[in-house]
Amino acid sequence: MSSPTKILVLNGPNLNLLGLREPAVYGSTTLADVEALCRAAAAERGAEADCRQSNHEGQLIDWIHEAGAAFRAGQLAGAVFNPGAYTHTSVALHDAIKGSMLPVAEIHISNVHAREEFRHHSYVSPAAVGIVVGFGVDGYVLAIDGLLRRTRAAQG
Ligand code: DQA
Repeated sequence: MSSPTKILVLNGPNLNLLGLREPAVYGSTTLADVEALCRAAAAERGAEADCRQSNHEGQLIDWIHEAGAAFRAGQLAGAVFNPGAYTHTSVALHDAIKGSMLPVAEIHISNVHAREEFRHHSYVSPAAVGIVVGFGVDGYVLAIDGLLRRTRAAQG
């Protein structure tokens, strides 16, 4: 079987406000810029990024289920996922990732551990294959790189 070269880049609630939202924390890059960065980073590594954003937990869950099925069919390497505030609240996202067996690289633009205490716990991290935290939007590139390397190493 040939190596799956597609990845899903998933952004959760309020990440559509990037560029406008708390620029001292999240920078001035817009979501469109981040998605262009992800598509370029994937292309440089021989892959294709499908970029999606939703403010709705159920929509994110449906996309994770869909991506899990594509992964199990050998059509997708996994997902880079910034769950936004659902990171700190959502058992349902944890269960969706575990249940669908989707390899997820969790990414946060800010260093959540250097911020408020309520951001220190992630329900997603125990279900993720790896985590990138605090490198700004470059973290998406690091997460794409890690996910593709992991997939390709596993396939030999
Ligand atoms: C975030 C960190 C979360 O705590 C926050 O709720 C976000 C963005 C980040 O990328 O740093 O929405 O996931």
